[in-house]
Amino acid sequence: MRSLLSILAGASLASAWTELNHAPFMNKNIDAIVVPGTYTSHMHTFFGSDAITKVLPTSAELQKGCYTGDNPNDLSVYWVPTLYYVDGDTYTEVPIFKFSTYYTNSFSTAAIPQDFAMISGNASAKTQAEADNPYNDLEWFFEGSDEREADVAKMPTSTCDQHLQVNLVFPQCVNADDHGEYDFADESEKCPDGMVAIPQLRYRVLYDTKSVAPQGWSGAVPFLLSCSDTPGDGYCFHGDFINGWYEDAAENMLINGGGGYDDGQFIAGEHGDSAVEASCTATDQDPEKGTSDYLTSLEMMANDGGSVEDGADDLTESGSASQPPTATATPAATPVPGVTETASSTQTTVRSTSTQTIPTRRPSSSARPGYSNKQTCTSNSKRATGQKSKTEAAKRALKQALDALDVLEE
Ligand SMILES: *[C@@H]1O[C@H](CO)[C@@H](O)[C@H](O)[C@H]1NC(C)=O
Repeated sequence: MRSLLSILAGASLASAWTELNHAPFMNKNIDAIVVPGTYTSHMHTFFGSDAITKVLPTSAELQKGCYTGDNPNDLSVYWVPTLYYVDGDTYTEVPIFKFSTYYTNSFSTAAIPQDFAMISGNASAKTQAEADNPYNDLEWFFEGSDEREADVAKMPTSTCDQHLQVNLVFPQCVNADDHGEYDFADESEKCPDGMVAIPQLRYRVLYDTKSVAPQGWSGAVPFLLSCSDTPGDGYCFHGDFINGWYEDAAENMLINGGGGYDDGQFIAGEHGDSAVEASCTATDQDPEKGTSDYLTSLEMMANDGGSVEDGADDLTESGSASQPPTATATPAATPVPGVTETASSTQTTVRSTSTQTIPTRRPSSSARPGYSNKQTCTSNSKRATGQKSKTEAAKRALKQALDALDVLEE
């Protein structure tokens, strides 16, 4: 009988993957997928192609932009809610230490289609149950650490030496005739009827919390997502993606159904066969409209409903793209974040079809790139919950191992 370890190792060999890193280039209150044409979104941090405004772009339009990643074949745009350090009435952006996207190709049969856009996560979620999709694997933890809160989508309640990390997996099934329809595969890697499997995207975000909270924290978490009204709640974390891969490179990502390239290998194409940064500087393409300031974005959300353009004009603030402003903002009249979030409450999450079978079990995350536990987490402060977390971690590891066994036996 094989050991659990070799089974887990075997599971990871079943899929090839590529990793790309992208610098942030803009913070802005737009969302071309969820609230196109308006400045009524909560704040987002953008990565990848800068050919993005409030209007949904085509892949061809994205490909005319300037990219912040490390692969000239990828002009996709990626965005996530902005994270703030809350100190009384001031909100300071938590700098992104590293933003990585992984594309995993295990059972895909189709390239990511041009003009395809998708969202993973639930921007309105306030509980673990609402955040768990259940395959999106949304988790907050410290880089390299096994410890999790009881709700894995909650941020860790005490400091660790490593970066604060969040992971999010995207759906990997799409209706080839209607790209608006996409979903997760079930636990046996089967897409819902009428959908094909494409390479699966995953976000990994590392935050530089030390630069804003060098003293660390214990108990109350001082970080607030732009989509939330409760510091420490990571439930509403979500990711948006619009495909900007050139078609030939998107096809190359698919070659041989996962065996075409090695783990971590660069995806080549007509626009380059090695990692290279763009020679241009990504900038906000609509700097006169919208805002890069957190509190202003709350006011603009409150101004929703017919006066969107007026509100945008009144509250214009240019977002300097190459230097996302660190919003050490002065409080507005009633700075109660979230209360005025009319825009986020109307957001749709991942669309599911009526034919979908809700997956009951998630695949083992330990077999995926970016989850490796090479570092040990050293707490800066006493962990009241340390023992409990360790037990939880052990339980999770066992569950993952058993899941992997189940999959192999099926
Ligand atoms: C998203 O969160 C909202 C709560 O605001 C909830 O009503 C909705 O059911 C959630 N969606 C999913 C797919 O869980």
